[in-house]
Amino acid sequence: MSALFSPFQLKDVTLRNRIAIPPMCQYSAVDGHVTDWHLAHYTSLARGGAGLVIVEATAVSPEGRITPACTGLWDDSQIEGLARIAAAIKAAGAVPGIQIAHAGRKASAQRPWEGDDHIPAEDPRAWETIAPSAIAYGENLPRVPRAMTVADIERVRADFAAAARRARDAGFEWLELHFAHGYLAQSFFSAHSNQRTDAYGGNVAGRSRFLLETLAAVRAVWPERLPLTARFGVIEYDGRDDETLRDSIGLASAFRRGGLDLLNVSVGFTIPGTSIPWGTSFLAPVAERVRREAELPVAASWGLDKPQSAEAFVAKGQMDLVMIGRAHLADPHYPYATAKALGVPRPSWVLPAPYAHWLERYRTQASAH
Ligand SMILES: Cc1cc2nc3c(=O)[nH]c(=O)nc-3n(C[C@H](O)[C@H](O)[C@H](O)COP(=O)(O)O)c2cc1C
Repeated sequence: MSALFSPFQLKDVTLRNRIAIPPMCQYSAVDGHVTDWHLAHYTSLARGGAGLVIVEATAVSPEGRITPACTGLWDDSQIEGLARIAAAIKAAGAVPGIQIAHAGRKASAQRPWEGDDHIPAEDPRAWETIAPSAIAYGENLPRVPRAMTVADIERVRADFAAAARRARDAGFEWLELHFAHGYLAQSFFSAHSNQRTDAYGGNVAGRSRFLLETLAAVRAVWPERLPLTARFGVIEYDGRDDETLRDSIGLASAFRRGGLDLLNVSVGFTIPGTSIPWGTSFLAPVAERVRREAELPVAASWGLDKPQSAEAFVAKGQMDLVMIGRAHLADPHYPYATAKALGVPRPSWVLPAPYAHWLERYRTQASAH
Protein backbone atom coordinates (compact mmCIF):
# COMPACT_ATOMS: atom_id res chain seq x y z
CA MET A 1 0.00 0.00 0.00
CA SER A 2 1.56 3.25 -1.14
CA ALA A 3 1.41 6.24 1.23
CA LEU A 4 1.89 8.64 -1.71
CA PHE A 5 -1.15 7.17 -3.45
CA SER A 6 -3.38 7.20 -0.38
CA PRO A 7 -6.18 9.79 -0.20
CA PHE A 8 -5.88 12.93 1.91
CA GLN A 9 -8.82 14.68 3.50
CA LEU A 10 -8.75 18.30 4.61
CA LYS A 11 -12.03 19.88 5.69
CA ASP A 12 -14.72 18.64 3.28
CA VAL A 13 -12.26 18.03 0.45
CA THR A 14 -10.59 14.72 -0.34
CA LEU A 15 -7.57 14.48 -2.66
CA ARG A 16 -7.24 11.17 -4.51
CA ASN A 17 -3.53 11.03 -3.63
CA ARG A 18 -0.73 13.06 -2.02
CA ILE A 19 0.77 14.39 -5.25
CA ALA A 20 0.03 18.09 -5.62
CA ILE A 21 1.03 20.43 -8.42
CA PRO A 22 2.29 23.71 -6.95
CA PRO A 23 1.44 27.04 -8.54
CA MET A 24 3.56 27.74 -11.61
CA CYS A 25 3.16 31.06 -13.44
CA GLN A 26 2.64 30.71 -17.16
CA TYR A 27 3.14 34.42 -17.97
CA SER A 28 0.55 33.98 -20.73
CA ALA A 29 -2.42 36.08 -19.56
CA VAL A 30 -3.87 39.14 -21.30
CA ASP A 31 -4.80 42.00 -18.95
CA GLY A 32 -5.00 39.47 -16.12
CA HIS A 33 -7.41 37.21 -18.03
CA VAL A 34 -6.55 33.56 -18.62
CA THR A 35 -6.30 32.30 -22.20
CA ASP A 36 -6.71 28.99 -24.06
CA TRP A 37 -3.12 28.23 -23.07
CA HIS A 38 -4.12 28.08 -19.42
CA LEU A 39 -7.17 25.91 -20.07
CA ALA A 40 -5.16 23.35 -22.06
CA HIS A 41 -2.25 23.45 -19.59
CA TYR A 42 -4.27 22.91 -16.41
CA THR A 43 -6.58 20.34 -18.01
CA SER A 44 -3.57 18.33 -19.12
CA LEU A 45 -1.97 18.52 -15.67
CA ALA A 46 -5.18 17.42 -13.94
CA ARG A 47 -5.63 14.50 -16.34
CA GLY A 48 -2.17 13.30 -15.37
CA GLY A 49 -3.51 12.05 -12.05
CA ALA A 50 -2.35 14.46 -9.32
CA GLY A 51 -4.66 14.89 -6.34
CA LEU A 52 -4.45 18.70 -6.32
CA VAL A 53 -3.70 21.23 -9.04
CA ILE A 54 -3.01 24.77 -7.82
CA VAL A 55 -3.40 27.48 -10.43
CA GLU A 56 -0.51 29.93 -10.61
CA ALA A 57 0.08 33.11 -8.56
CA THR A 58 -2.96 35.19 -9.50
CA ALA A 59 -2.73 38.86 -8.63
CA VAL A 60 -5.21 40.49 -6.27
CA SER A 61 -4.64 43.88 -7.95
CA PRO A 62 -3.01 45.07 -11.19
CA GLU A 63 0.05 46.39 -9.35
CA GLY A 64 0.40 43.01 -7.61
CA ARG A 65 1.30 41.20 -10.83
CA ILE A 66 4.88 40.01 -11.27
CA THR A 67 4.73 40.71 -15.02
CA PRO A 68 2.18 42.29 -17.37
CA ALA A 69 1.32 38.70 -18.48
CA CYS A 70 0.31 37.38 -15.03
CA THR A 71 -3.21 36.21 -14.24
CA GLY A 72 -5.48 38.28 -12.00
CA LEU A 73 -8.62 38.15 -9.88
CA TRP A 74 -9.14 41.86 -9.22
CA ASP A 75 -12.16 42.14 -11.48
CA ASP A 76 -15.34 40.10 -11.83
CA SER A 77 -14.67 39.76 -15.58
CA GLN A 78 -11.72 37.50 -14.67
CA ILE A 79 -13.94 34.91 -12.97
CA GLU A 80 -15.40 33.24 -16.05
CA GLY A 81 -12.13 32.03 -17.61
CA LEU A 82 -10.88 30.71 -14.28
CA ALA A 83 -14.24 29.00 -13.65
CA ARG A 84 -13.72 26.97 -16.83
CA ILE A 85 -10.29 25.94 -15.58
CA ALA A 86 -11.60 24.98 -12.12
CA ALA A 87 -14.36 22.89 -13.74
CA ALA A 88 -11.88 21.18 -16.09
CA ILE A 89 -9.54 20.29 -13.22
CA LYS A 90 -12.45 18.89 -11.25
CA ALA A 91 -13.82 16.92 -14.21
CA ALA A 92 -10.42 15.26 -14.47
CA GLY A 93 -10.68 14.08 -10.86
CA ALA A 94 -8.30 16.54 -9.20
CA VAL A 95 -9.17 19.20 -6.66
CA PRO A 96 -8.96 22.70 -8.19
CA GLY A 97 -6.84 25.12 -6.18
CA ILE A 98 -5.58 28.64 -6.81
CA GLN A 99 -2.88 30.83 -5.30
CA ILE A 100 -3.69 34.52 -4.81
CA ALA A 101 -0.78 36.90 -4.64
CA HIS A 102 0.71 40.36 -4.51
CA ALA A 103 4.26 40.67 -5.82
CA GLY A 104 5.19 43.82 -3.86
CA ARG A 105 8.63 45.18 -4.80
CA LYS A 106 9.23 42.24 -7.20
CA ALA A 107 6.33 43.40 -9.41
CA SER A 108 6.55 45.20 -12.75
CA ALA A 109 9.10 42.77 -14.20
CA GLN A 110 9.71 41.20 -17.59
CA ARG A 111 8.76 37.59 -18.21
CA PRO A 112 11.56 35.18 -17.19
CA TRP A 113 12.40 34.35 -20.77
CA GLU A 114 12.51 38.07 -21.64
CA GLY A 115 15.02 38.99 -18.96
CA ASP A 116 13.30 38.48 -15.58
CA ASP A 117 14.34 42.01 -14.58
CA HIS A 118 12.37 45.13 -13.69
CA ILE A 119 10.76 46.86 -16.65
CA PRO A 120 12.53 50.25 -16.89
CA ALA A 121 10.43 52.84 -15.02
CA GLU A 122 10.10 55.02 -18.15
CA ASP A 123 8.67 52.11 -20.19
CA PRO A 124 4.88 52.59 -20.60
CA ARG A 125 4.34 48.94 -19.52
CA ALA A 126 5.93 49.61 -16.09
CA TRP A 127 4.01 50.54 -12.94
CA GLU A 128 4.83 51.81 -9.47
CA THR A 129 5.82 49.09 -7.01
CA ILE A 130 4.88 49.12 -3.33
CA ALA A 131 6.39 47.40 -0.29
CA PRO A 132 6.58 47.75 3.50
CA SER A 133 9.67 49.97 3.21
CA ALA A 134 11.42 51.83 0.39
CA ILE A 135 14.12 49.16 0.04
CA ALA A 136 14.88 47.53 -3.31
CA TYR A 137 15.38 43.77 -3.67
CA GLY A 138 18.57 44.39 -5.68
CA GLU A 139 20.33 42.48 -8.46
CA ASN A 140 17.91 42.11 -11.39
CA LEU A 141 15.13 43.89 -9.46
CA PRO A 142 16.75 47.20 -8.50
CA ARG A 143 13.69 49.49 -8.52
CA VAL A 144 13.07 51.15 -5.12
CA PRO A 145 9.43 50.60 -4.11
CA ARG A 146 7.18 53.19 -2.49
CA ALA A 147 6.70 52.50 1.24
CA MET A 148 3.04 51.63 1.82
CA THR A 149 0.80 53.86 3.88
CA VAL A 150 -1.64 52.28 6.33
CA ALA A 151 -4.37 53.06 3.78
CA ASP A 152 -2.40 51.03 1.18
CA ILE A 153 -2.16 48.15 3.65
CA GLU A 154 -5.89 48.21 4.30
CA ARG A 155 -6.64 48.34 0.58
CA VAL A 156 -4.36 45.36 -0.27
CA ARG A 157 -5.87 43.35 2.60
CA ALA A 158 -9.33 44.04 1.17
CA ASP A 159 -8.03 43.11 -2.32
CA PHE A 160 -6.99 39.69 -0.97
CA ALA A 161 -10.46 39.16 0.50
CA ALA A 162 -12.18 40.25 -2.74
CA ALA A 163 -9.95 37.94 -4.81
CA ALA A 164 -10.72 35.06 -2.42
CA ARG A 165 -14.44 35.67 -2.91
CA ARG A 166 -13.97 35.61 -6.69
CA ALA A 167 -11.92 32.39 -6.42
CA ARG A 168 -14.79 30.87 -4.45
CA ASP A 169 -17.29 32.04 -7.08
CA ALA A 170 -15.09 30.53 -9.82
CA GLY A 171 -15.47 27.11 -8.15
CA PHE A 172 -12.03 26.66 -6.62
CA GLU A 173 -12.04 24.36 -3.60
CA TRP A 174 -8.56 25.04 -2.23
CA LEU A 175 -7.10 28.49 -1.66
CA GLU A 176 -3.42 29.26 -1.17
CA LEU A 177 -2.33 32.71 0.01
CA HIS A 178 1.06 33.61 -1.42
CA PHE A 179 3.00 34.68 1.66
CA ALA A 180 6.35 33.46 0.25
CA HIS A 181 9.21 34.09 -2.15
CA GLY A 182 10.00 37.70 -1.28
CA TYR A 183 6.69 38.98 -2.55
CA LEU A 184 4.62 41.48 -0.59
CA ALA A 185 3.59 39.40 2.45
CA GLN A 186 7.00 37.74 2.85
CA SER A 187 8.65 41.16 2.65
CA PHE A 188 6.49 42.35 5.54
CA PHE A 189 7.69 39.39 7.64
CA SER A 190 11.41 39.79 6.94
CA ALA A 191 13.49 42.39 8.76
CA HIS A 192 15.64 42.56 5.61
CA SER A 193 12.81 44.31 3.78
CA ASN A 194 10.60 45.66 6.58
CA GLN A 195 12.08 48.54 8.53
CA ARG A 196 8.81 50.22 9.44
CA THR A 197 8.48 51.89 12.78
CA ASP A 198 4.67 51.65 12.99
CA ALA A 199 2.46 48.71 14.06
CA TYR A 200 3.34 46.81 10.84
CA GLY A 201 7.07 46.63 11.52
CA GLY A 202 9.62 46.36 14.30
CA ASN A 203 9.50 43.14 16.30
CA VAL A 204 8.24 39.83 14.95
CA ALA A 205 4.68 40.56 16.11
CA GLY A 206 4.65 43.80 14.11
CA ARG A 207 6.21 42.17 11.04
CA SER A 208 3.61 39.35 11.23
CA ARG A 209 0.63 41.71 11.49
CA PHE A 210 -0.02 42.19 7.75
CA LEU A 211 0.01 38.41 7.18
CA LEU A 212 -2.31 37.62 10.10
CA GLU A 213 -4.73 40.41 9.23
CA THR A 214 -4.82 39.29 5.59
CA LEU A 215 -5.50 35.71 6.69
CA ALA A 216 -8.36 36.92 8.91
CA ALA A 217 -9.87 39.02 6.10
CA VAL A 218 -9.79 36.03 3.75
CA ARG A 219 -11.05 33.62 6.42
CA ALA A 220 -14.16 35.78 6.72
CA VAL A 221 -15.13 35.24 3.06
CA TRP A 222 -13.67 31.81 2.24
CA PRO A 223 -16.07 28.94 3.06
CA GLU A 224 -15.34 27.12 6.33
CA ARG A 225 -15.79 23.74 4.65
CA LEU A 226 -12.97 24.35 2.14
CA PRO A 227 -9.21 24.28 2.85
CA LEU A 228 -7.57 27.65 3.38
CA THR A 229 -3.79 27.37 3.04
CA ALA A 230 -0.74 29.59 2.64
CA ARG A 231 2.68 29.31 1.10
CA PHE A 232 5.28 30.83 3.37
CA GLY A 233 9.07 31.01 3.27
CA VAL A 234 10.07 29.76 6.71
CA ILE A 235 13.81 30.02 6.11
CA GLU A 236 16.14 32.28 4.13
CA TYR A 237 19.52 30.47 4.30
CA ASP A 238 21.07 33.84 5.19
CA GLY A 239 23.06 32.64 8.21
CA ARG A 240 20.30 33.54 10.67
CA ASP A 241 18.24 30.42 10.14
CA ASP A 242 17.75 29.37 13.78
CA GLU A 243 16.08 32.67 14.62
CA THR A 244 14.08 32.86 11.37
CA LEU A 245 12.83 29.30 11.74
CA ARG A 246 11.81 29.90 15.35
CA ASP A 247 9.89 33.05 14.38
CA SER A 248 8.38 31.33 11.33
CA ILE A 249 7.15 28.38 13.35
CA GLY A 250 5.63 30.81 15.85
CA LEU A 251 3.80 32.53 13.00
CA ALA A 252 2.71 29.19 11.52
CA SER A 253 1.12 28.33 14.88
CA ALA A 254 -0.64 31.70 14.85
CA PHE A 255 -1.84 30.93 11.31
CA ARG A 256 -3.32 27.67 12.64
CA ARG A 257 -5.11 29.51 15.44
CA GLY A 258 -6.32 32.01 12.82
CA GLY A 259 -8.00 29.27 10.78
CA LEU A 260 -5.27 28.12 8.39
CA ASP A 261 -5.62 24.46 7.41
CA LEU A 262 -2.22 23.66 5.82
CA LEU A 263 1.12 25.37 5.23
CA ASN A 264 3.02 24.99 1.96
CA VAL A 265 6.53 25.31 3.40
CA SER A 266 8.98 27.17 1.19
CA VAL A 267 12.00 29.50 1.14
CA GLY A 268 11.88 33.26 1.81
CA PHE A 269 13.81 34.52 -1.22
CA THR A 270 13.75 37.97 0.39
CA ILE A 271 17.34 38.89 -0.45
CA PRO A 272 19.69 37.82 -3.22
CA GLY A 273 22.94 35.98 -2.56
CA THR A 274 21.79 33.50 0.09
CA SER A 275 23.26 30.00 0.44
CA ILE A 276 20.33 27.77 -0.41
CA PRO A 277 21.50 24.15 -0.28
CA TRP A 278 20.05 23.28 -3.67
CA GLY A 279 19.91 19.58 -4.10
CA THR A 280 17.35 16.92 -3.65
CA SER A 281 14.98 17.22 -0.71
CA PHE A 282 16.65 20.00 1.31
CA LEU A 283 13.27 21.27 2.49
CA ALA A 284 11.94 17.90 3.70
CA PRO A 285 13.46 18.08 7.21
CA VAL A 286 12.37 21.73 7.50
CA ALA A 287 8.81 20.83 6.54
CA GLU A 288 8.83 17.99 9.06
CA ARG A 289 9.90 20.36 11.83
CA VAL A 290 7.19 22.89 10.97
CA ARG A 291 4.60 20.10 10.86
CA ARG A 292 5.63 18.82 14.27
CA GLU A 293 6.15 22.10 16.10
CA ALA A 294 3.36 24.19 14.56
CA GLU A 295 0.99 21.20 14.57
CA LEU A 296 -0.20 21.95 11.06
CA PRO A 297 -0.46 19.71 8.00
CA VAL A 298 2.29 20.70 5.55
CA ALA A 299 3.34 20.43 1.92
CA ALA A 300 6.73 21.21 0.41
CA SER A 301 8.49 21.28 -2.96
CA TRP A 302 11.88 21.94 -4.58
CA GLY A 303 13.28 18.78 -6.12
CA LEU A 304 11.13 16.22 -4.32
CA ASP A 305 10.20 14.25 -7.43
CA LYS A 306 12.21 11.04 -7.07
CA PRO A 307 9.47 8.39 -6.67
CA GLN A 308 11.00 6.50 -3.74
CA SER A 309 11.77 9.74 -1.89
CA ALA A 310 8.30 11.18 -2.49
CA GLU A 311 6.80 7.96 -1.12
CA ALA A 312 9.08 8.10 1.94
CA PHE A 313 8.25 11.76 2.78
CA VAL A 314 4.61 10.81 3.24
CA ALA A 315 5.22 7.36 4.75
CA LYS A 316 7.57 8.83 7.40
CA GLY A 317 5.20 11.67 8.22
CA GLN A 318 7.56 14.42 7.02
CA MET A 319 4.83 16.03 4.95
CA ASP A 320 1.20 15.46 4.08
CA LEU A 321 1.45 16.46 0.42
CA VAL A 322 4.41 16.37 -1.94
CA MET A 323 4.41 19.28 -4.38
CA ILE A 324 5.82 18.28 -7.76
CA GLY A 325 6.34 21.19 -10.14
CA ARG A 326 8.82 21.03 -13.00
CA ALA A 327 8.63 17.24 -13.29
CA HIS A 328 4.99 17.79 -14.32
CA LEU A 329 6.04 20.26 -17.03
CA ALA A 330 8.37 17.57 -18.38
CA ASP A 331 5.71 14.85 -18.09
CA PRO A 332 2.10 15.72 -17.21
CA HIS A 333 1.64 11.99 -16.52
CA TYR A 334 4.22 12.08 -13.75
CA PRO A 335 1.79 10.37 -11.32
CA TYR A 336 1.40 7.42 -13.70
CA ALA A 337 5.17 7.09 -14.16
CA THR A 338 5.62 7.34 -10.38
CA ALA A 339 2.93 4.75 -9.64
CA LYS A 340 4.66 2.38 -12.05
CA ALA A 341 8.06 3.05 -10.48
CA LEU A 342 6.65 2.32 -7.02
CA GLY A 343 5.00 -0.91 -8.17
CA VAL A 344 1.50 0.36 -7.36
CA PRO A 345 -0.98 -2.25 -8.66
CA ARG A 346 -2.85 -1.11 -11.81
CA PRO A 347 -0.90 2.19 -12.03
CA SER A 348 -2.99 3.43 -14.93
CA TRP A 349 -5.95 4.00 -12.61
CA VAL A 350 -4.54 7.49 -12.07
CA LEU A 351 -5.25 8.32 -15.72
CA PRO A 352 -8.63 8.92 -17.44
CA ALA A 353 -10.27 5.86 -19.04
CA PRO A 354 -9.45 6.80 -22.67
CA TYR A 355 -5.77 6.48 -21.72
CA ALA A 356 -5.96 4.00 -18.84
CA HIS A 357 -7.82 1.33 -20.77
CA TRP A 358 -5.08 0.98 -23.35
CA LEU A 359 -2.18 1.29 -20.99
CA GLU A 360 -3.59 -1.31 -18.61
CA ARG A 361 -4.95 -3.80 -21.10
CA TYR A 362 -2.01 -3.73 -23.44
CA ARG A 363 0.71 -2.88 -20.97
CA THR A 364 2.46 -6.16 -21.47
CA GLN A 365 1.87 -6.42 -25.22
CA ALA A 366 4.21 -5.06 -27.85
CA SER A 367 1.43 -3.14 -29.59
CA ALA A 368 -2.30 -2.55 -29.31
CA HIS A 369 -3.07 -4.08 -32.68
C1 LIG B 1 7.54 28.00 -14.32
C2 LIG B 1 7.45 28.17 -12.84
C3 LIG B 1 6.56 29.07 -12.29
C4 LIG B 1 6.42 29.19 -10.91
N1 LIG B 1 5.45 30.01 -10.40
C5 LIG B 1 5.18 29.99 -9.08
C6 LIG B 1 4.03 30.63 -8.58
O1 LIG B 1 3.19 31.14 -9.31
N2 LIG B 1 3.85 30.62 -7.23
C7 LIG B 1 4.71 29.98 -6.38
O2 LIG B 1 4.49 29.99 -5.17
N3 LIG B 1 5.79 29.31 -6.86
C8 LIG B 1 6.02 29.27 -8.18
N4 LIG B 1 7.04 28.52 -8.68
C9 LIG B 1 7.77 27.60 -7.78
C10 LIG B 1 7.10 26.22 -7.84
O3 LIG B 1 5.81 26.27 -7.25
C11 LIG B 1 7.93 25.14 -7.15
O4 LIG B 1 8.10 25.47 -5.79
C12 LIG B 1 9.30 24.98 -7.78
O5 LIG B 1 9.17 24.72 -9.16
C13 LIG B 1 10.10 23.86 -7.09
O6 LIG B 1 9.43 22.63 -7.18
P1 LIG B 1 9.96 21.53 -8.26
O7 LIG B 1 11.38 21.25 -7.92
O8 LIG B 1 9.08 20.33 -8.05
O9 LIG B 1 9.80 22.13 -9.62
C14 LIG B 1 7.22 28.42 -10.06
C15 LIG B 1 8.15 27.53 -10.61
C16 LIG B 1 8.25 27.38 -11.98
C17 LIG B 1 9.22 26.36 -12.54
